Amino acid sequence: MMREKIREFISSSLVGFLIVTPSLAFGSDRPLMPIPEIDHGVINPGTGAREFELTIQQGQIEFFSGHLTKTLGINGPILGPTLKMKTNDHVKIKVKNQLAEETTLHWHGMHLPAEMDGNVHSVIAPNKSWDVAFDIKQPAATLWYHPHVMGNTGSQVYRGLAGLIIIDDEEQGKLGLPSQYGYDDIPVIVQDRKFKNDGQLQYLQSMMDIHMGMMGNRLLINGALEPKAQAPSKLVRLRLLNGSNARIYQMRFNDKRIFYQIATDGGLIEKPVALSELLLTPGERAEILVDFSKNAGQTISLEGFMPPNKPGDKETTFTILPFEILETGNTDVNVKIPKRLTQIDWMSENEAVGKRSFILSMQGMGFTINGKAMNMEVINDIVKVDTTEIWTVESNEMIHNFHIHNIQFQILDRGGKSPYPFENGWKDTVLVAPGEPVRLIMRFEDYTDKDKPYMYHCHILEHEDQGLMGQFVVVPQ
Ligand code: C2O
Ligand code: CU
Repeated sequence: MMREKIREFISSSLVGFLIVTPSLAFGSDRPLMPIPEIDHGVINPGTGAREFELTIQQGQIEFFSGHLTKTLGINGPILGPTLKMKTNDHVKIKVKNQLAEETTLHWHGMHLPAEMDGNVHSVIAPNKSWDVAFDIKQPAATLWYHPHVMGNTGSQVYRGLAGLIIIDDEEQGKLGLPSQYGYDDIPVIVQDRKFKNDGQLQYLQSMMDIHMGMMGNRLLINGALEPKAQAPSKLVRLRLLNGSNARIYQMRFNDKRIFYQIATDGGLIEKPVALSELLLTPGERAEILVDFSKNAGQTISLEGFMPPNKPGDKETTFTILPFEILETGNTDVNVKIPKRLTQIDWMSENEAVGKRSFILSMQGMGFTINGKAMNMEVINDIVKVDTTEIWTVESNEMIHNFHIHNIQFQILDRGGKSPYPFENGWKDTVLVAPGEPVRLIMRFEDYTDKDKPYMYHCHILEHEDQGLMGQFVVVPQ
């Protein structure tokens, strides 16, 4: 399914394989995967706004017995609650920073005014708070939130700052998809980490960690070290987020079963796509349906795999998450996979007025886009509202990805060919492999501000922190 060249790049870029210790490789020794608490907010009786309070704080977790690992979390010791919102909601969020360092919170994938975007310009000083208000003007989707501080995003996400956002809408509600959060609608946040001998997180130890991005040798799933999940023996929805700083995962089930993708970054795709494997770069999400109805009593694992580096070598696989399949409750109905999910308004090349191109590069240790490193004082691109544009993004030397704030785009083509089957829908983050320029089409519909920019960048967080990022404003016609 993936083109051979990409496979090669991925395996050669994935130094430092995930080595799961033998004791942890055994299902029964794994802790049960936690499900991030769901937070529906509180509806303000006066204004009708859905109001949330998020406190960014320090925490500690005993990943290894006898060692307390220092972490960061939102309303808890690691990660944050899953924020549940509905299309057309008016949302208000109070973000409090209880850390001793500056931070921000960015709503990744959200269409909103630039001053609410939570990017490098919305710094929250220690012991200060930031009030956000925006309307949800997009369909059901799995988004996420994380800090976006200039030069320090990688470190803060690595220490634990991230959380999911689930937007729901009526159309999605009518499809009868599995939607009992934590039961048959299961969030899976995948992050790799490295630990020191004393149990503390180890970040940026070598130039390699910056060059390739920080990759770990242990996995955290929903903030727990190599856990196992339990799932009912029925059709189950997984909301997968690659929340890693740099690692790209090629995922499949250990028995290579077919599963069905139902959503990309920005929401539902037109119809379920049957897949046996899926690739997620940092920041990307996918919702998939997997049928466990015939597997009660068995363990089925989601695994990562890396093709051999050279012909004749063996493929490397590692367990991402084992699922122990339980008998279903007697109220369970094994819903069928819908034939159609939604209708996507596909944009056409003819409507595009603006064309831009972005070359992602690293010369020496300098990370640049079109030859320039991120400068907070410089607006790199000015886009007119009410227009459609085509952005061509390419990389010369190595694998990157590309995330654009504020909008969801569609992929016109990848290296002149059609995009992968798992990226045929609304996207906000996309793989950019060398020699394979991707052409993205997008519409800038509203929210103008000539002073406050949005960002675009590589979502390998060490690359972003090193300057592989730029800024654009959306201005009135
Ligand atoms: Cu997920 Cu600009 O970030
Ligand atoms: Cu990059």
